Amino acid sequence: MGGAEDLGAPASQEERLRRLAGAFESRFGRPPSAVAAAPGRVNLIGEHLDYNEGHVLPVAIDRSVMVAFASRPDRRVRLYSLDFEQESAFHLDEIEKDPEVPWSDYVRGVARALREAGHRLSGLDAALQGDVPVGAGLSSSAALEVAALGAFEAASGLRLDRRDLALLGQRAENCFVGVACGIMDQMAAALSRAGHALLIDCRSLEYEAVPLPLEDSPSGGGAGLRLVVADSGVRRALLESQYNLRRQECQRAAELLAAAIADRPVTALRDVGAEDLARHGDSLPPNLLKRARHVVEEERRVLLSVEALRAGDVEAFGEMLNASHRSLRDDYEVSSPELDLLAELAWAQAGVLGSRLTGAGFGGCTVSLVRAEAVEAFREGVVARYCVETGREGRMYVCRAADGLRLHRFG
Ligand code: GLA
Repeated sequence: MGGAEDLGAPASQEERLRRLAGAFESRFGRPPSAVAAAPGRVNLIGEHLDYNEGHVLPVAIDRSVMVAFASRPDRRVRLYSLDFEQESAFHLDEIEKDPEVPWSDYVRGVARALREAGHRLSGLDAALQGDVPVGAGLSSSAALEVAALGAFEAASGLRLDRRDLALLGQRAENCFVGVACGIMDQMAAALSRAGHALLIDCRSLEYEAVPLPLEDSPSGGGAGLRLVVADSGVRRALLESQYNLRRQECQRAAELLAAAIADRPVTALRDVGAEDLARHGDSLPPNLLKRARHVVEEERRVLLSVEALRAGDVEAFGEMLNASHRSLRDDYEVSSPELDLLAELAWAQAGVLGSRLTGAGFGGCTVSLVRAEAVEAFREGVVARYCVETGREGRMYVCRAADGLRLHRFG
């Protein structure tokens, strides 16, 4: 039987920086010049909307990937991971995957993406360490890509627009690592602001920081809320095939609707409204109608959520989270019995304003908005109970809303 273990507070940033700099020095025989750090993320609402060109509302969390680095006079890149106790090296003029050391592919991928975008890179020694749980749907890979981009940028004397940097991370993941993700995770890792969520328009890539009413946010006021991430302990087995299938279904639904809606162009489900679906829904097979309905309603929920947050109406925001879960469960069909159980236990728990699965689905985590004084009861009533009922290793993280990519210089 699993236990309701809490990973506890993450090690302090200073402590991690010191340990990483020490490891760099003993490995490479010189001190690092700086550390690039990029966070994981939890998506509050706007699920499976990025590749449909809609709006999303992720939050960067206080768990990150750190890359300590110093440039080299040649074109070699040497990497060492403290977590995997593994190294990997490559030459900037010959970047291929390393099947023996898969984590290094994210760094290789961003180097390749930078080079293909025409940037001149210098070689690098780098030591890496992270505390974003891997495979839990909290975007440890985007954190690694964005931190590695920050390291190459600083070591090579480049100045990249943060949006372009996020696009390079996505390109590395799509074209080099071979995972068809959208732009949300890299934008969140690159551009978030502490105490805020990041509203992203995934068509124009415009973005805006939205203050969160969390107890520890500068903008939090007296709202006394916490963001609690509950990890189902289920790693996402079906994820890749089902994710790609959902993308294809949405594209097909958009094509069919474009043919039916004569009065304006429809290039993505973003362009479709509830009235269009009411009028032209019968041009879609039933499963595509369900997918489209999720996208259309979720887009509306994101915009209403931002309005509710701005108005301080946290109850209305919580309702949006719950409705999002139901839609992901019934219409988009990316939930699982474990995620449903976590959400249902949270809905029944006093002091929980809202709860839903977060990220791609098929495993991973839920996110809940919980009154600060109800967090301990959540641990018992939701996570411990989940562990007893399923026999799985559920965990919870109480998250702060953190900054995106940061560079820490020494001395
Ligand atoms: C994964 C992808 C994101 C996004 C979410 C679903 O996290 O990496 O781009 O599509 O799933 O919202």
